Amino acid sequence: MKKILIVIGTRPEAIKMAPVVKTFLNLPNEFDTHLCVTGQHRQMLDQVLDFFNLIPDTDLNVMQPNQSLSTLSSRLMDGITSVINSFNPDFVFVHGDTSTAMIAALCSFYLQKKIVHIEAGLRTYNINSPFPEEANRQIISRLASLHIAPTLNCKMALIEEKIPKKNIIVTGNTVIDALFLGLKIVENSPSRKLLEFKREIKNSKVILVTSHRRENQGLGILEICKALKIIANDFPEFQIIFPVHLNPKILTPVYEELSGLDNITLLEPLDYELFIWMMKRSFLIITDSGGIQEEAPSLNKPVIVMRDITERQEAVESGAVVLVGNKKERIVNEVRKLINNKDYYDKMARALNPYGNGNAVSEIIDLIRELDG
Ligand code: UD1
Ligand code: UDP
Repeated sequence: MKKILIVIGTRPEAIKMAPVVKTFLNLPNEFDTHLCVTGQHRQMLDQVLDFFNLIPDTDLNVMQPNQSLSTLSSRLMDGITSVINSFNPDFVFVHGDTSTAMIAALCSFYLQKKIVHIEAGLRTYNINSPFPEEANRQIISRLASLHIAPTLNCKMALIEEKIPKKNIIVTGNTVIDALFLGLKIVENSPSRKLLEFKREIKNSKVILVTSHRRENQGLGILEICKALKIIANDFPEFQIIFPVHLNPKILTPVYEELSGLDNITLLEPLDYELFIWMMKRSFLIITDSGGIQEEAPSLNKPVIVMRDITERQEAVESGAVVLVGNKKERIVNEVRKLINNKDYYDKMARALNPYGNGNAVSEIIDLIRELDG
């Protein structure tokens, strides 16, 4: 029986890995699966584990308030090494670009374990943007045995970096598998919390906002808040809904700048179920999130991305996403354009999702079945 260790630490990793973990757990005769959560995030991770009903086998509980990347990394290193040593997996699964993923890959490499990297090959080739994620991705690609690329673009980037073709597969992004799973629950068996939340959101016109990128901390988030104030003032018929990330470098300035304004509602991070309903219900989304850019086109929502450069160029090319950076004029102008120009809005909303059709997980499992342990 193949032994599979899956290591996750943050909200997006948990969402994108949930359908992978659930599928492995449903095949107990073929796979011995161990879910290690590092607890790099706490509340925001637990929200997702609860929603998908995932119970960790190990929880390293490493989160500390406002912790530095170095402290986080050293705490991750000790904990993950112990888990690998005691479980002795054939394959270690890591996802994307977080500190959890990069350190799990490094520990696995030191212990000579095969690493399966899901969401491989995203690149900006600017080591400082996204920071530190671009570096994390490149490091993991150097160490992994198997590269699960969401798109052909990602595969091409890996081939350019001399990763053997035979070690790369293109599957689409598991975020779409997770979204479809989540939407089924939202539509067929919504929780009481979701039903209450639906009643609270009265205004029919919603602009949904999220932000957390390190490049937008400091002056960037202040500029973003200024833009939101202008939009709230110019478009009083819209309600801006902003579930605020728990990183104090975002949370503190956002609450200082935007509390108490009539048509801006600041919320705690939303449970995934509430968030996907909210995306569906929104007129448009303003964000610097990676995952949201991948989900929104499946819900036919235009996305304004507050970044200068992206590793998700496919979404820009498909027309679903527009990059505006974090300066207030460009953010406000783009919102105006989408509100005032119906043809422009419709074109963005109708763009095809380049991130797949929700079959990524079954392709990944089939591949692991074929491999030697
Ligand atoms: C991390 C990832 C980023 C990912 C993002 C998703 C790294 C380096 N960064 O960024 O790639 O896009 O998660 O959201 O891996 N906090 C809480 N509760 C939580 C989560 C965070 O209080 O549930 C606070 C803590 O004070 C923590 C701080 O946020 O120290 C920063 O968390 P951290 O994981 O280091 O960075 P993120 O900005 O969340
Ligand atoms: N999300 C959520 N609640 C929120 C905001 C986002 O469940 O209040 C989900 C969202 O649907 C997406 C993921 O979190 O799947 C994105 O996470 P985040 O933006 O924190 O990280 P990134 O994708 O940028 O790494």
